[in-house]
Amino acid sequence: MESPVGSRMLVDGRRVDYYCGTSYYSLHGDPRVIDAACAAIRRYGLGPATVMNTPPLLEVVERAGAFFGTQSATYIVSGYLADMVLVQALSDDYDVVFVDERSHYSVFDGLVVGEKPVVRFRHKDANDLSVKLADNVKAGQIPLVLSDGVFPTTGAIAPLRDYVETLSPYDDALLCVDDSHAIGVIGEEGKGTFEYLGLRGPNLYLVGTLSKAVGGVGGIVPGSHGLMEKIRQHSRVPIGASPPSAAAAAAAATGLRILSEHPEMRKQLWSNVARVRGGLRKLGIDVEASPVPIISIQSTPGLDVKRLFQELDKRDIVVAYVAARGYSDAPNVESVRIAVFSTHTESQIDRLLESIGAFL
Ligand SMILES: Cc1ncc(COP(=O)(O)O)c(C=O)c1O
Repeated sequence: MESPVGSRMLVDGRRVDYYCGTSYYSLHGDPRVIDAACAAIRRYGLGPATVMNTPPLLEVVERAGAFFGTQSATYIVSGYLADMVLVQALSDDYDVVFVDERSHYSVFDGLVVGEKPVVRFRHKDANDLSVKLADNVKAGQIPLVLSDGVFPTTGAIAPLRDYVETLSPYDDALLCVDDSHAIGVIGEEGKGTFEYLGLRGPNLYLVGTLSKAVGGVGGIVPGSHGLMEKIRQHSRVPIGASPPSAAAAAAAATGLRILSEHPEMRKQLWSNVARVRGGLRKLGIDVEASPVPIISIQSTPGLDVKRLFQELDKRDIVVAYVAARGYSDAPNVESVRIAVFSTHTESQIDRLLESIGAFL
């Protein structure tokens, strides 16, 4: 990749239509974001040398709180560590963990520090969760359920409404999602999967990343002052690891500002997603109607997705080929992952669809 991320990119010396990765608004390549990052480095230096008090870092905390509608937020060097931060923060609040078996690696690695029993339930299966809860929660114990909100390879949305219902007999049960692919993307205000599904409540927690749709780098744990206090008491990452660089923070703060000020960007993204999903359905490919900009085309007896990937590449259209079980949630068969951006033009999308149609 030899140019900033965007819907048109320079890859291996070729100008291509780019449908990979996670910069769903191409903000990582947006001149406003790049200028903010450069200015922050000139003013504050590359990093704050372990201390979390430079203005761009504090601005991210403030803007993230405003974006998610929470009292505050904790900003850390990577989204990968955000799950760990939350699991440690809540360590006094649960007894047994239930985790979707295809949750992201960061969810499972975050759980290692939890030092509590962990039970896996079948992917997106509230019935299996219900059985596992009944078998493993003893009287007086509190369960914590963990899952991705939106899964990174398939774009599937976790059935969180069903999980909330399944948890209703368990007092004080907690539901936490890694919403890295949903933040800024789904929900009326881009707040993620809970907002999209109309769920609210004190026992619902989300963590995620500002390294994807928001166009910056770093992990975020939004929440109440009470949660921030628990993070201060129990989570080691915010005190033991350097915070994101000034450049990353300025980029993230600018991305959050742009997404808050321009809701029409979300509408444009959803409209592009609908154009791709609708077009694929017309071609006979079975994709759900969903606003998620991650679209998975899976191999079937009549469809060789590796060849599809190669044929698109010959036309300078770059999508991602995913091996069977090649990522945390990747299907059991080979697939192609198409990431739709708000910056893809109608003619780019039509060329993608026409190229897929020509292959079929
Ligand atoms: C679901 C999920 N969580 C966490 C991460 C890690 O985020 P970051 O790249 O900010 O470390 C990813 C990265 O791809 C992800 O897909």
